[in-house]
Amino acid sequence: MANILHVDSSPRGERSRSRLLARDFMNAWLDRHPDHAVTYRDLRMTPVPHITEEWIAADFTPPEALTSDMAGLLTFSDELVNEFLAADRCVFSVPMYNFGIPSNFKAYIDQVVRVGRTFTLDQGQFRGLAQGKKVVFITTRGVAYGPGSPFEGWDCLEPALRYAFRFMGVTDLQFIHANGLDLGDEAERRGLDAAQARLQELVGSW
Ligand SMILES: Cc1cc2nc3c(=O)[nH]c(=O)nc-3n(C[C@H](O)[C@H](O)[C@H](O)COP(=O)(O)O)c2cc1C
Repeated sequence: MANILHVDSSPRGERSRSRLLARDFMNAWLDRHPDHAVTYRDLRMTPVPHITEEWIAADFTPPEALTSDMAGLLTFSDELVNEFLAADRCVFSVPMYNFGIPSNFKAYIDQVVRVGRTFTLDQGQFRGLAQGKKVVFITTRGVAYGPGSPFEGWDCLEPALRYAFRFMGVTDLQFIHANGLDLGDEAERRGLDAAQARLQELVGSW
C-alpha cells in the first residue's frame, strides 16, 4: 500500500489558499486511490524549531558516538526524517514569503536534510538517499511571475525547493503554482483556476 506524506506549512488556517489547494489535491487523489495511506503534518500546529550549534554537532556525530543528550536533540528531526523516508509520495503546500521559502518550511527542510539519513558524502561526492519518491509542491503567491510581469525572474521559491529535494535524491518533482492571489478578486480567481486546472491534470498523471 502506498504511503503519502501531506505537509501544510502556511501559518494561516482557513484563510490559507495553499492549504485549500493541497486539500483539493489530496481529496482528488484519494478518490482515485482510496487504498493509499496518508500521514499528515501541520507545521502551523506543530512548529519546527530552528537548528542550533548543538544540533549541528549532534547531526555530524556518528550514531555510535552520540551521547544521550545529543540523541535527544535529534529526536524530533529523526521523527521527521523517518516520516519522509517512509513516504512513497509527498504533497507539500508552501506559500511564497519574501520571494522564497517561508521560515517554518525552511526549518522543516533543515531538520530533514540529514547526513547519513537523507544524504551522504561518498568519496568526495554527495549522494541523495531519499531516492524513488514522487513529490508535489503546491505554492501560492501574491503576485505573478510570468514573462513580462514586473516580478519576472524573482521567484526564488521553486529553485530553492527543487535543489533542496534534489540534494536528497528526489528527482520526480512537480509544481503547482497559484500566482497573483493578492492582485484583486479577478486575478485571484484566475490564479486559483489555473492552479486547479494544473492540479486536476497532475492528479490524472502523477
Ligand atoms: C509575510 C508575507 C510575505 C509574502 N511575500 C510574498 C512574496 O515575496 N511574493 C509573493 O508573490 N507573495 C508574497 N506574499 C503573499 C502570499 O504568498 C500569498 O498571500 C499566499 O496566498 C499565502 O499563502 P496562504 O494563502 O496559503 O497563507 C507574502 C505574504 C506574507 C504574509
